[in-house]
Amino acid sequence: MQAVARRLGQQSLKPTSSLHSIYPLSHYDYGADHPRYGSTLVTNKGVGHLVRKGTGGRSSVSGIVATVFGATGFLGRYVVQQLAKMGSQVLVPFRGSEDSPRHLKLMGDLGQIVPMKYNPRDENTIKAAMAKANVVINLIGKEYETRNYSFEDVNHSMAEQLATIAKEHGGIMRFIQISCLGASPSSPSTMRKTKAAGEEAVLRVIPEATIMRPAVMVGTEDRLLNTWARFAKKYSFLPLIGDGSTKIQPVFVADVAAAVVAALKDDGTSMGKIYELGGPEVFTVHELAEIMYDVIREWPRYVKIPFPVAKAMAMPREILLNKVPFPLPAPDIFHLDNINTFTSDTVVSDNALTFEDLGIESRKLKGYSIEYLISYRKGGPQFGSTISERVSPDDWP
Ligand SMILES: NC(=O)c1ccc[n+]([C@@H]2O[C@H](COP(=O)([O-])OP(=O)(O)OC[C@H]3O[C@@H](n4cnc5c(N)ncnc54)[C@H](OP(=O)(O)O)[C@@H]3O)[C@@H](O)[C@H]2O)c1
Repeated sequence: MQAVARRLGQQSLKPTSSLHSIYPLSHYDYGADHPRYGSTLVTNKGVGHLVRKGTGGRSSVSGIVATVFGATGFLGRYVVQQLAKMGSQVLVPFRGSEDSPRHLKLMGDLGQIVPMKYNPRDENTIKAAMAKANVVINLIGKEYETRNYSFEDVNHSMAEQLATIAKEHGGIMRFIQISCLGASPSSPSTMRKTKAAGEEAVLRVIPEATIMRPAVMVGTEDRLLNTWARFAKKYSFLPLIGDGSTKIQPVFVADVAAAVVAALKDDGTSMGKIYELGGPEVFTVHELAEIMYDVIREWPRYVKIPFPVAKAMAMPREILLNKVPFPLPAPDIFHLDNINTFTSDTVVSDNALTFEDLGIESRKLKGYSIEYLISYRKGGPQFGSTISERVSPDDWP
């Protein structure tokens, strides 16, 4: 033990060398001068020593100045909200219209949320967006390819580019990369393969980066249950790709945002680690669809579509994507890469670090997490639309 303490003491004299004062001896022995530990992240202790002021609320100063790439998306709004709520300044690079980050401005005190126009293909604009930051969070990701951006561009190259610029910056204390559950070079899904390549690239450039792999996320703006509910309402049935027996572990989006913030607030324990963030329950696709039907109060009707047929239905977009001189609509239910992800179960692996290791209890799906689905009920939330439900004036609140 004394030998370990002596080594850790030596380590603390070299604050820029690595995060491995928190690692067990075996990792230390791996070699502090190994290129894997060669990042320029300025801390090996999280962001804990930043100057803080106030009681920890929205008008306090958390000391965190975070550039959140991909903040305009689904998860982004929850991450920005939770960062702003504790008095952080959030720099929001956006590429669309001035309106795309507008909803985020209200989440923090005046001047705390700073939208910054950037071009993901212009390195200088990325550097400008990071210039004043001490934390970088990368939420950029895409589930389908477009004419302009392939999976490789969005999920791998961009992640690598952001990590490289963050490393050159020299003042970034934490880098958090959002990947996805099931990311693996051997996945049948190209999106997951490129996410795995993105993880690998980020860790190669910044070994202290924290990787989060959320399962499919649910919440008011989600693209899973909302898509199913819309489809079921429009066509009176839901296609069950395969036989619906694939297992998934949906997670509430705000819990994933809480995990990001918890990792930032820790003493550096989460640096260099990979977390798998799944909800507390595992469902088959069919079970999840039943819950969706239950909440929207429609009779469950399914059409089972075998994988080869579903793939054939999704194929025309893939073939035409780069062949026609105009953009194609975004895929919805019949989306080839998504169909590929449903060919195998996607659940948190046995020995993975999870919400628990970040001190978070993830919320169950039924109840608050999917309450937004009541907006799909015919006649409004108080009315039933199935013949099993009687509606009378007494039902009015
Ligand atoms: N949603 C899920 O169920 C789920 C599950 C597991 C993992 N994830 C991962 O979690 C992260 C956040 O997911 P999300 O659902 O919030 O995604 P999202 O709603 O699609 O938002 C993605 C964000 O990335 C940006 N982005 C996409 N393509 C880009 C490009 N070519 N250049 C620059 N920015 C680009 C978008 O910017 P614009 O607004 O300008 O398009 C948006 O801000 C992603 O990495 C995703 O892969 C999501």
